[in-house]
Amino acid sequence: MSKSTDEQVNRRDFMKTAIIAIGGVIGGAIGLPAIPYLIGPAQKQDSEDWVRLGAVSKVELNVPTLFKTTIETQTGWINAEEEFSVYVLTENGQDYSVMSNICTHLGCRVRWIPDQESFFCPCHNAVFAKDGTVVAGPPPRPLDQFEYKVEDGFIFVKRG
Ligand code: FES
Repeated sequence: MSKSTDEQVNRRDFMKTAIIAIGGVIGGAIGLPAIPYLIGPAQKQDSEDWVRLGAVSKVELNVPTLFKTTIETQTGWINAEEEFSVYVLTENGQDYSVMSNICTHLGCRVRWIPDQESFFCPCHNAVFAKDGTVVAGPPPRPLDQFEYKVEDGFIFVKRG
């Protein structure tokens, strides 16, 4: 092999190595910042699943009490805020049931009617008992119940 052929091979090897190195640097510069963005939703902490509703002292005995709050929702990489409302009921001030205010028929909001001791859905005239069971109308099941916890005088509900 002549000297000029050896130099061409060395120059060719150098160019290959340089192109791979530059490609690696560019790929790293673009790819590394994207990693947290791509895996971020999977890294969400479990503590964010609990929503603080408010002071448990606000709940009257035997009266469904409406709590309203705003929660952050995430669909894919899109963050949004939405209103979240539930009724909290207790008969003894110790044990609670936390019910959705969303009708199980087609999703309208129910409201508590104190005079009738029941929840009413205005969309198709459904009636739910105080504990959320269906009394009348088309809903296929009782109002949804949420898991809850009470800590330091505040009631929290687990997002479903
Ligand atoms: S949405 Fe409530 S009865 Fe139809």
